[in-house]
Amino acid sequence: MPTTITAPKTKTAPAAEKDFLPLQGTDYVEFYVGNAKQAAHFYKTAFGFQSLAYCGPETGTKEKASYAIRQNNLKLVLTTPIRPNNPIADHVYKHGDGVKALALTVEDATSAWEETTKRGGKSFMKPTTLSDADGELVMSGIHTYGEVVHLFIERDNYRGTFMPGFRKWESAYNPPQTGLQYVDHCVGNVGWGQMNPWVKFYEDVMGFRNILTFDDKDISTEYSALMSKVMSNGNGFVKFPINEPAEGKRKSQVEEYLEFYDGEGVQHIAMATKNIVKTVTELEKRGVQFLKIPSTYYDTLPDRVGHIDEDLEPLKRLGILVDRDNEGYLLQIFTKPVQDRPTLFFEIIQRKGAKSFGKGNFKALFEALEREQEARGNL
Ligand code: FE2
Repeated sequence: MPTTITAPKTKTAPAAEKDFLPLQGTDYVEFYVGNAKQAAHFYKTAFGFQSLAYCGPETGTKEKASYAIRQNNLKLVLTTPIRPNNPIADHVYKHGDGVKALALTVEDATSAWEETTKRGGKSFMKPTTLSDADGELVMSGIHTYGEVVHLFIERDNYRGTFMPGFRKWESAYNPPQTGLQYVDHCVGNVGWGQMNPWVKFYEDVMGFRNILTFDDKDISTEYSALMSKVMSNGNGFVKFPINEPAEGKRKSQVEEYLEFYDGEGVQHIAMATKNIVKTVTELEKRGVQFLKIPSTYYDTLPDRVGHIDEDLEPLKRLGILVDRDNEGYLLQIFTKPVQDRPTLFFEIIQRKGAKSFGKGNFKALFEALEREQEARGNL
């Protein structure tokens, strides 16, 4: 009898498609600013961030100074050039204050760089190991829209305060926190016709999925319109909505941003809180300015969103918006731009089940934005 050779029985069905870029969340957001010392003071005083770490000439860094500040799982780095004629100085000259890096925590920064550059990502930084007495940290990075980059930060073998090169920043001035917890999402503004190419970039290069789409009918007022697609990584920890302007009677807020930022960039960063009424009350007390919407918004709110746990009165007083989706509801509010150019602003968001982005608020919100635009003479 001839021997039959059969395939080994141990062979299993192919595993579910593996996430080639597993992300653990946002590591930090780095801003390039005109004056990092003053910006750090502002974010501590106004938003309740805490001093974390510093690097600059005193720590051996020749071209820049950086202040890392933290609140719960939110970390911001404020970087300024201390000399002219270098990429950081050029960035500030062109864009004003703005976001340079959206840094993401990964288990393996080398693999993150290899997998993304292999798929067409343009390298910003090859995998680089930084070390000091507290261990090793590996970082790498790729470019995204405008001059923004994504850094991949592998910090499992690092026990220091922030990262090698920084020293612990201990300050005698420590205003209390305001309840901000983590980055919920970061929104990018891109140019005409550029939303879909960047959606494809996040799909192809970073393995993200398009989880929501808003067209110009969803996001339009009498005067202007925009389109938006929300990109999310596999586990949903990292969400990047991408906006582009759409045709309207007048200039849209995205166009105003592109003009004043002189290019594509981060429009807003949404920071989550567990108690938006408490957080916003505190922020307002500290001088943070929010977009205000007409009080008539609250007349129809109960009909639109049904029962919510919060009292309507404080929401109305503070101007907090509410929206509901199939899974729950969310509360949100938007600051005015945090620098003189009408560019970057923040969103404060509290999610109570809802995974969406406040579509029901778009119209009221964009009308409020247009009133601000009009006051600046840019509508
Ligand atoms: Fe948002």
